[in-house]
Amino acid sequence: MKFFVDTAEIKDIRDLYETGLLDGVTTNPSLVAKSGRNFKEVIREICEIVPGPVSAEVAATDHAGMVAEGEHLAKIADNVVIKLPLTFEGLRACRHFSQKGIKTNVTLCFSANQALLAAKVGATYISPFIGRLDDINLEGMQLIRDIRQIYDNYNFSTEILAASIRSANHVTEAALAGADVATIPPAVIYKLADHPLTKSGLEQFVKDWKSTGQSIL
Ligand code: G3P
Repeated sequence: MKFFVDTAEIKDIRDLYETGLLDGVTTNPSLVAKSGRNFKEVIREICEIVPGPVSAEVAATDHAGMVAEGEHLAKIADNVVIKLPLTFEGLRACRHFSQKGIKTNVTLCFSANQALLAAKVGATYISPFIGRLDDINLEGMQLIRDIRQIYDNYNFSTEILAASIRSANHVTEAALAGADVATIPPAVIYKLADHPLTKSGLEQFVKDWKSTGQSIL
């Protein structure tokens, strides 16, 4: 499973990229607003740090506007992925970019039918939002399983990018459900390594090692 980090914070991206765990980055207008940074500058900087796919979302909601903005964003760097909303206008724009060989991430997906449409217009990634479905008492993870089944039934190559991940359990469940990618907030990525038995076990090893009075170097 590929890991993308879901943030527009440069420091987090740099630190995580250095771990070797990061395959790409996703941003959205809310994350850019939270960073307080200029959108195009941030995308340029992220692309200089991470060679993998970097999703940059259009702001327009009409087809022509999305195409114009996407064309502009795609020029920032070769690894920019154009992020488009799952509306008919967005799907039309997705088809435009697919035909030009420009990668796309179709976002705000909340149903299997929406994911089917995105695959049919050649989306590179489909982003089902797990956490936001859970928020309204629906089962976000079932959507991942349904999309996996549908894409496998018809050999669609669109990758399932599990988004709106809120917890370490979401990551495990998305991996079990066959998501190709998970885009994860930085804090959740760090939590993936945590286990109380690892912590207590290491504390004991450190204590016992000290008691030997030895040094490896
Ligand atoms: O980037 C899209 C998605 O991951 C947003 O997550 O937590 O705002 O629902 P959230």
